[in-house]
Amino acid sequence: MKKIVLSALVLTTLAMQFCTSSKKSQASAAPAKPKSLTYEANVQPIMAVSCAPCHMPPQGNKKPYNTYAAVKADIDDILVRIQKNPGEKGFMPARHPKLSDSTINVFKQWQTDGLLEK
Ligand code: HEC
Repeated sequence: MKKIVLSALVLTTLAMQFCTSSKKSQASAAPAKPKSLTYEANVQPIMAVSCAPCHMPPQGNKKPYNTYAAVKADIDDILVRIQKNPGEKGFMPARHPKLSDSTINVFKQWQTDGLLEK
């Protein structure tokens, strides 16, 4: 009898351990917080295409936007200009179609996320 009680106890303990650990792994499988956008991963690749050659030295002779520091410093002006419409004064990218909403949102989200470099 003692043996039965003991093995029942052991089994319950094991079962409980199994339950808690499976709960834990379920929790860690929950969707993670979306990753913050960064200059290197998200912003630089867009600008290298859309703001070239004008803002990319040595080919471009407009204000250089080929570094994190320069883009970060001018993010307010950049956001204003890319949200203008072609034909409006100051619209960027000059002489090109307006950037798509999802591309513009990358710049907005980057600012919201704190203008991280990487
Ligand atoms: C075809 C060339 C061209 C392209 C492409 C272009 N720009 Fe420009 N950009 C200019 C010119 C010319 C000026 C100066 C005239 C002015 O301020 O509107 C300028 C000025 C600017 C300024 C003001 C800089 C200052 O002097 O303070 C910003 C900000 C800017 N551009 C952002 C952008 C961004 C962001 C892109 C890419 C999405 C872009 N531009 C693409 C030609 C271009």
